[in-house]
Amino acid sequence: MMESIFFSAFVLIITGIGLHYIVIPPVEKSIALQVLGVLGEEEDKHPRIYAHRGGGHDAPENTLAAFRKAKDNGATGVEFDISLTKDGIAVLLHDDTVDRTTNGSGSIGDMTFHEVRELDASKHHPQSSLYEGEKIPTLEEGVQECIKLNLRMIFDVKEYDEKALAAVLDIFEKYPELYKVAVVASFYPNFIYQLRSANPKIVCALTWRPNFISYDDIVNGQPRFRIPWKMNLGKVGDYFLDWSIHSWLWYVTGVSAVLIHKDCISQIVQSSWMKPNLFGLCSETLEYSNYQTLGKDFMR
Ligand SMILES: *[C@@H]1O[C@H](CO)[C@@H](O)[C@H](O)[C@H]1NC(C)=O
Repeated sequence: MMESIFFSAFVLIITGIGLHYIVIPPVEKSIALQVLGVLGEEEDKHPRIYAHRGGGHDAPENTLAAFRKAKDNGATGVEFDISLTKDGIAVLLHDDTVDRTTNGSGSIGDMTFHEVRELDASKHHPQSSLYEGEKIPTLEEGVQECIKLNLRMIFDVKEYDEKALAAVLDIFEKYPELYKVAVVASFYPNFIYQLRSANPKIVCALTWRPNFISYDDIVNGQPRFRIPWKMNLGKVGDYFLDWSIHSWLWYVTGVSAVLIHKDCISQIVQSSWMKPNLFGLCSETLEYSNYQTLGKDFMR
């Protein structure tokens, strides 16, 4: 009896010491609330509107023109996507390739920044005539424009390598005002962990949706793998990822919010995310995501 108590105590102490070294503490509550826009003087009375990809309906997505349009339309912030060129420049682009949004073709990771700059980012937009010649902006240009327009930011980081990490760390160093107005979100908990290990002052969010590993997209449900055993392995991976994010990853990474696709928002999802130090629950993939209509209950 005595031994088992000693043994349990020993295990608890070792686990405690281990966690102390592993867990990254979250950003202080008052700061996190301010960055997420949950607390705010005059804004408190209004819905928080974040234009998804800068508001891709009204102007070409992830461009400076879209940010200006979003501001005109009354958005309080923008969400945009960060990708890297072959020569390591962080630019704003959602897809792996430039095909869907520009007049070019090919993978962004195979193109130099010079090549990317030649492209017209308005090419396939319904109102392309209004935005002819709009370029793919760099992350820095995007940040400068948002600061100028007084727009809050959600960075959606598409990559999770060293270059992406360096790009995000550098931009926070160069523009310290970002600590007050920007949230960094990623589907990759390892990226968020590395980022917050390097700089725990950055307010981060984990992006979550069901079946991220096995399905390409939540809306049209395209399987990522054709071979059955790979697909099954993907589903096992998803099960483990879902469990991990809900049970310990949010805690270990010290994130302040989760970014969730609007189609998954439900009472069950909402209650499963009621955790200490998680203050925001945003909706992904709305052209305009409105925090307050999604429920003030989500916010604490
Ligand atoms: C794309 O459009 C731009 C601007 O009109 C042009 O300069 C460029 O040559 C075009 N690129 C391709 C690959 O068509």
